[in-house]
Amino acid sequence: ARAAAGGGPGFDFEELEAGVDEHHHVAPGHDAQVLIRWGDPVLPEAPSFDPMAQSEAAQRRQFGYNNDFVGYFPIDGSSGHGLLAVNHEYTNEELMFPGAAARITREGRLGYLTRELAMVEMAAHGGSIIEVRKGEGGWEVVPGSRFARRITASGTVMELTGPAAGHSRLRTGADPSGREVLGMINNCAGGVTPWGTWLSAEENFHGYFTGELPEGHAEARNYARYGVPGNSYGWGRHVERFDLAKEPNEPNRFGWMVEIDPYDPGAIPKKRTALGRFKHEGANTILSRDGRVVAYMGDDERFDYIYRFVTAGRYDPDDRAANMDLLDEGTLSVARFDEDGSMEWLPLVFGEGPLTPQNGFESQADVVIETRRAADLLGATKMDRPEDVEPNPRTRKVYAMLTNNTKRKADQTDAANPRADNRFGHIIEMTPPGGDHAADRWSWDILVRCGDPSIAEVGATFAAGTSEHGWFGMPDNCAFDAAGRLWVATDGNSALKTGRSDGLWAVETEGEGRGTSRHFFRCPVGAEMCGPSFTPDGRTLFLAVQHPGEEDAQGNEGTFETPATRWPDFEEGMPPRPSVVVVVRKDGGVIAG
Ligand code: FEO
Ligand code: CA
Ligand code: CA
Ligand code: CA
Repeated sequence: ARAAAGGGPGFDFEELEAGVDEHHHVAPGHDAQVLIRWGDPVLPEAPSFDPMAQSEAAQRRQFGYNNDFVGYFPIDGSSGHGLLAVNHEYTNEELMFPGAAARITREGRLGYLTRELAMVEMAAHGGSIIEVRKGEGGWEVVPGSRFARRITASGTVMELTGPAAGHSRLRTGADPSGREVLGMINNCAGGVTPWGTWLSAEENFHGYFTGELPEGHAEARNYARYGVPGNSYGWGRHVERFDLAKEPNEPNRFGWMVEIDPYDPGAIPKKRTALGRFKHEGANTILSRDGRVVAYMGDDERFDYIYRFVTAGRYDPDDRAANMDLLDEGTLSVARFDEDGSMEWLPLVFGEGPLTPQNGFESQADVVIETRRAADLLGATKMDRPEDVEPNPRTRKVYAMLTNNTKRKADQTDAANPRADNRFGHIIEMTPPGGDHAADRWSWDILVRCGDPSIAEVGATFAAGTSEHGWFGMPDNCAFDAAGRLWVATDGNSALKTGRSDGLWAVETEGEGRGTSRHFFRCPVGAEMCGPSFTPDGRTLFLAVQHPGEEDAQGNEGTFETPATRWPDFEEGMPPRPSVVVVVRKDGGVIAG
């Protein structure tokens, strides 16, 4: 990479124009091809995708909907051959199913859903593991791979591990052990551990629950804090465990970080309860100076928190098996940002401070099940929707994407969340003392306040070198490449809000150029940008285009019949399809110089 003025690795590419249209675009000199689409085969004998003949059986073998996190797992250390683990966060019924938009209008979002459609939706959630290889003609999915796997909300048995496993609050009629859950839901971003496992984050789990808790039920306070029932999906009409009246403990079995071994298609996914229960955006890891594993996590809700988990045990680079349960024991903490630029990680440990029986915590199981309420009692700082929180492997500083918070009032601002009606979000940089990630007292700074710097009232702070194309709003996912350069993906830009589609931006963090942003990739209309993930050699970038066509440039909702784009197929009768895109430089070099 070209050295940036004043030090640090710079970016070297010709900037892409900001804008909105039906296609995707990448910076000149690079190539962006669709690798896999919703409905493409993952498992053997998957039928080819037919939008008019969708079924649970087909969807269980095909690539799921709304690809979000993408993780690259090398095979034999290769940057040209590996596995991709992909989250399928949620479903857009109005775009997926013929006639659904009209039925939703008539019968409501919960009422229109037949049992068969509910089962298709559950099979379209979860994740996929595919084998990919770079050949003469570019990257391809390897057909018939022995690693190929579909993980779904309805068909994949998972194990609960850690302090809450087996607790009575996690027991249900179908699982009297409190240790076995069927499926994962709303898996948003994630991470990759040093031992090569996939961390998949259950985010907005509340939306899948309907019905009412029995009168005076002990979980009422817990569920109110998480917005359960969210009533966004009609699954509970057909599948009892999503109906609170029938299975009141089921929501306690979601909202966890899930660890999956992508190299073993038979491995049972583990819900690691030690990492807390909240609307997990993702989890990104780094090693502390003494070899413990440190994971950073955001809870994506207005006025919720940033968390850290430090394992009790140490990572062993020579013994993969010895690392596989490291995430079951350690200390979960929540961040308090102080006005003087310092910050403190407050431990969420049963028996310490207010986390006692007096406040309804009888054990560490209660602390992790009600992580948010425990963090409230400790006085953590209420943030503007924490999304991806990721350490830079080169500088060891940690970056948190705070996507927006239009509900923050002028009398609720603080140094770390300085804007009322924060429509465009900001990025916080956290610095451990001496690079020691296990330390509790850190310093912090704001890297950039987002939005259009040419409108004074917005108060954006992109550096002067940022062009009219280079600024963005609503940072969401992020990634660091091998050179330690920050890439930011957005969710919420549109013709009406920012005059541009969501996409990927390159942001300098060091030296004189700090805070300079440049536009690299642009989504088709209605889509958000997810999953930035680089191969170790920095020559390939995987991106996930989520919910293309969801909304047009005038803000009208797209439907199966009238989507805002038919990306990426552009065939009459074919709905838009969330897809993973693979980006390379045309001359084969490192992305963005
Ligand atoms: Fe699924 Fe926080 O975005
Ligand atoms: Ca990330
Ligand atoms: Ca997102
Ligand atoms: Ca988001």
